[in-house]
Amino acid sequence: MNKRIVVLGGDGVGPEVTDVACDVLKCMNLGFEILMPPNGEAAMAEYGTPFPQETKKLCREADAILFGAAGAFSSPILTFIRWELDNYVNLRPIRYFPGASTPLKDAEGIDTVILRENSEGFYPPGREGDISQLAQHWPEWKDSLLGRTFNDYGEGKFALRIITERGIDRLMKFACSFAEKRKASGYPGKITLATKSNVLQQSCGLVQRKAEEELRRHPSLVYEHFYIDDMCRRIVRYPKEMDVIVTTNMFGDILSDEAAELVGGLGMAPSGCVGGQTPYFEPVHGSAPKYAKQNVINPTAMILSVKMMLDYFGLEKDGKELEDAVAGVYHEGRYLTRDQGGQSTTKEFADAVARKLG
Ligand code: IPM
Ligand code: MN
Repeated sequence: MNKRIVVLGGDGVGPEVTDVACDVLKCMNLGFEILMPPNGEAAMAEYGTPFPQETKKLCREADAILFGAAGAFSSPILTFIRWELDNYVNLRPIRYFPGASTPLKDAEGIDTVILRENSEGFYPPGREGDISQLAQHWPEWKDSLLGRTFNDYGEGKFALRIITERGIDRLMKFACSFAEKRKASGYPGKITLATKSNVLQQSCGLVQRKAEEELRRHPSLVYEHFYIDDMCRRIVRYPKEMDVIVTTNMFGDILSDEAAELVGGLGMAPSGCVGGQTPYFEPVHGSAPKYAKQNVINPTAMILSVKMMLDYFGLEKDGKELEDAVAGVYHEGRYLTRDQGGQSTTKEFADAVARKLG
């Protein structure tokens, strides 16, 4: 298949995980063109920027981007690939591979996906300010419960959370067709929506109302709604009852870290950001600077993000092969990284996956 992939390591452990994930991808011989333009921490010295113009151009024109992690340097990369390219859905699968380190007695069968709205809510960063600015521009505003004006609060900051009809509509359309496709391959066909509409009656209320409107057009799907606090409890207690979880941006950010812990932690959690101009695939974990350049980080999240890219291209058979190879390494338990109770390095783990593919 003639696909062009741009690989951006970013900061900290990012380049280590993208490097080995690319080695694994290359040994699948799918005929992809893999570009590794300068970026992130490593590009700073030579180019004075983490994201040279030429790299940005390649990202825009690629079929997909693999991204390691944004730490102290690479936030302009994240800003571009997530928000400027408008990748409005963040898919975060939570799947247990027997052999991975779980705090649960029995995690076998956990297989759910969090669909996190990825374009609005409290994001992108930078939509905060002084309460005094609000007081100045909007002196007549009063909250509906206690009737306080902005002047009543004294010095402080505000953060803006935007929920748009368009934002929730496009997410729900994606979610419903995603859940229907999963159902066709044997999953329950259930959407679990998490909001805080009991408190945020207007913004989360809109999410819930629009979501339910869209779900009425998909009668084959089962639907349930929980408040986000209740959801955080349920994902621990009843993880196997979840199929497709849909939630707004920051709730999804928090819930996906929590849920990852059930199946082995952040080292195991892949993600895909899609819907925009060029999709990108990245681990849920960050740049973990204290582990950088030690060859100890678990590259599973990045390798499984490559699997998500293959699925995105319609190469589900290859995606399954890659996932089976990862599952095989966990099942055997000989080449696990430290976070999973093993002693293998980043590279040894990835080599073990590659051997299973060969
Ligand atoms: C994530 C990260 C990002 C987020 C940070 C790095 C901005 O935590 O991808 O989950 O908050 O979304
Ligand atoms: Mn996060």
